[in-house]
Amino acid sequence: MDRGSVVVTGAGSGIGFSTAELLIEAGWHVVAADRDASALDRLMDRLDNRAAMVTPVAIDITDEAAISRLAGQCRELARPLMALVNSAGIAANTRFFDTTAEQLRRIYEVNVVGAFALSQALAPLLKENGGGSIVHIASVSGIKGNLGRSAYGASKGALITLTKIMAVELADDLIRVNAIAPGPIETPMVRENHTAATREEWQRTVPMRRYGRPEEIASAIAFLIDGRQSSYVTGQVLSVDGGFTAAGLMN
Ligand SMILES: NC(=O)c1ccc[n+]([C@@H]2O[C@H](COP(=O)([O-])OP(=O)(O)OC[C@H]3O[C@@H](n4cnc5c(N)ncnc54)[C@H](O)[C@@H]3O)[C@@H](O)[C@H]2O)c1
Repeated sequence: MDRGSVVVTGAGSGIGFSTAELLIEAGWHVVAADRDASALDRLMDRLDNRAAMVTPVAIDITDEAAISRLAGQCRELARPLMALVNSAGIAANTRFFDTTAEQLRRIYEVNVVGAFALSQALAPLLKENGGGSIVHIASVSGIKGNLGRSAYGASKGALITLTKIMAVELADDLIRVNAIAPGPIETPMVRENHTAATREEWQRTVPMRRYGRPEEIASAIAFLIDGRQSSYVTGQVLSVDGGFTAAGLMN
């Protein structure tokens, strides 16, 4: 089935990579954006005969001039831009007193300002194309007070609030804005940040007793950008977390 185009940031790895693959399978044209050009090459290799369904763009989402160029490129696509998925992000696992203001600023710059700037640059195009959908990838750490997440969790909390405000302000333009709050998902980011002790802690506190797979986030994203399936869903935060945010006493 032919659909429109969608920009997926962070498409070189983890959740963004799986999302790009799934959306191509579903008939979308994917503008795969990532600062890691070699990761984009790996995506193109993996897609092989479906490579025509992808426009790879090496971009750092903290570079506002590059974002303007990306918006220009999106105007030239054969299929109209209908959606944006903000998956690019960085993490840190540092206690409050060990977190520097500089680290906090750096994480905000990518996770909040990057998603904000891309949305601001691409929303006018969605509007011109008759509306669309924006999905921010937040985190359960933006909802719960998880240890060691003062910078990361605060950035994801900001993204969740931004989601709600954008949903209200962009509703008249027929642009739906939602967030997904993943629990622990088996990706390169997690392999870098989770020690054996961290893994044990997640396994103990997630009712489903396991890490999620990137494809399990990708399918929720596919639902939220599909205007036929989620046409009345906006301003929501969907936790895809094996029950982590629902849990209380766990025994
Ligand atoms: N994996 C998890 O457990 C988990 C849980 C909750 C939320 N998340 C969120 O999901 C999103 C994807 O995470 P992931 O686990 O797939 O991580 P990942 O590290 O595997 O992938 C992130 C991608 O974003 C790209 N990126 C980072 N900074 C960028 C920048 N400035 N410009 C352009 N690209 C940039 C990286 O090159 C990388 O390819 C992130 O926003 C993350 O915070 C992940």
